Amino acid sequence: MSRDEIAWAGAGNWQVILSPTKPVPKEWFGDIRGKELLGLASGGGQQVSLFAAAGALVTSFDNSSAQLAKDEYVALRDGLDIAYEQGDMALSRFDDESFYLIFHPVSNVF
Ligand SMILES: C[S@@+](CC[C@H](N)C(=O)[O-])C[C@H]1O[C@@H](n2cnc3c(N)ncnc32)[C@H](O)[C@@H]1O
Repeated sequence: MSRDEIAWAGAGNWQVILSPTKPVPKEWFGDIRGKELLGLASGGGQQVSLFAAAGALVTSFDNSSAQLAKDEYVALRDGLDIAYEQGDMALSRFDDESFYLIFHPVSNVF
């Protein structure tokens, strides 16, 4: 995500895709500001950065240190607060009801 995209997200202007081209309807997310949001297998410096800029309390979970490093790169560059956890999504490690929303991009195919 570019600096501009992060700045726009901070102003409430953001969108993400799950299918190849169609943005997820914004109303599906509700108001994410101040809410715990898990990016499940969602590293790479894209979606979780936008969610953090938009005010969510984001945890980025991925099994790739390289993907998490990309989230960290954007966070450090743009002053975002993101928690990082590395692990296998097949092995649950979070308590029930830990998150308001789980964003799971195209990765269950793995
Ligand atoms: C297609 S990417 C999706 C996220 C990315 N932000 C995007 O928009 O393309 C798939 C992600 O799933 C992660 N992944 C694959 N298998 C995983 C597993 N078993 N546990 C956790 N993460 C996994 C990969 O490291 C990668 O970051």
